[in-house]
Amino acid sequence: MILSLKNISKIFVEDSNKLLALDNINLEIAQGDFFVILGPSGSGKSTLLRIMSGLEKEFSGKLNYEGVTKNDFSFVFQQFALLPYLSVFQNVELGLLARGVPKNQRHERVLTELKKLGLEKFVKSYPKELSGGQKQRVGIARALVTSPKIIFMDEPFSALDSFSAEALRKEVLDIWRISQTTIVMVTHLISEALELSNRIAVLTSKPGQIEAVLENPLSRPRQLRSEGFFKMEDKIKELIKI
Ligand SMILES: Nc1ncnc2c1ncn2[C@@H]1O[C@H](COP(=O)(O)OP(=O)(O)OP(=O)(O)O)[C@@H](O)[C@H]1O
Ligand SMILES: [Mg+2]
Repeated sequence: MILSLKNISKIFVEDSNKLLALDNINLEIAQGDFFVILGPSGSGKSTLLRIMSGLEKEFSGKLNYEGVTKNDFSFVFQQFALLPYLSVFQNVELGLLARGVPKNQRHERVLTELKKLGLEKFVKSYPKELSGGQKQRVGIARALVTSPKIIFMDEPFSALDSFSAEALRKEVLDIWRISQTTIVMVTHLISEALELSNRIAVLTSKPGQIEAVLENPLSRPRQLRSEGFFKMEDKIKELIKI
C-alpha cells in the first residue's frame, strides 16, 4: 500500500451554506496502480485528489502514506499550469531547482524528459508558442523529471483535441508501464478510465460518495471497440446512474 484513506469527509462552507463534498471515503492505492477516480461533474473528484495529494489540508478522516513523502509527488493539471514567463526548459527544471539538484544534473534530466515527450525542438520556446497538446507534454515532462513515486493527474487530457488526447494517453500508458510509478488520475470519461486504469473508483454526487471500486479486467493493450470494453462501459454507466 502506498496511500490509504479512512473515513475522509469534506464540507465546504460558503456564507452560511454547508456542502458535503465528500462523504466518508475509504480507499487504498497500491504501489504501481494506475488508479482512476471517475465520476460526473461536481462529484468531488478534484477535491478528493487534492486531499490525497496534500494540496487540500482541511478535511476530516485519516490519510496514510507508506514509504513516500510529498517530495515524491508530482502533478499534472487540466489547464497545464505552465509559467508563461519561463521557457519550456525552465518550466520542466522547476521541480529540480526546488529539490536542490545541481546544475549539470538538472540539464541532463530535463533534456531526457523533453526527449521522451518529443519536445527537443521546443527547449527554448515559451508556452504561448505551443499547441495545447505540446503544452501538456511539457506538463508531463515537468511531472516526470523529479522521478516521482506518485503522479496525481486531474483530467490531464480533457483540454486537448481528441487526436492529441488519444496520442498522449498512449504515451502516458507507456511511461507508466516502463517507470512502474503509481498514477492517480481523475476523469469524467468512462472510456478513458477503462483504457488506462487497473482500478477505478466510481464517485456519485451530492454528496460525493464511492459507489464502487472496480478492478479493470480488460487485458492490455486495451481493445477500445471490443465487446468486453462495451460491457464494462455499460456496467459503469449503470453505477453512475446516467
Ligand atoms: N473551494 C470551494 N468552495 C466551495 N465549494 C467548492 C469548492 N471547491 C469545490 N466545491 C464544491 O464541491 C463539490 C465538488 O467539487 P469538485 O471540484 O471536487 O468536483 P469535480 O468532481 O472535480 O467536478 P468537475 O468534473 O466539474 O471538475 C462541487 O459541488 C463544488 O461546487
Ligand atoms: Mg474537477
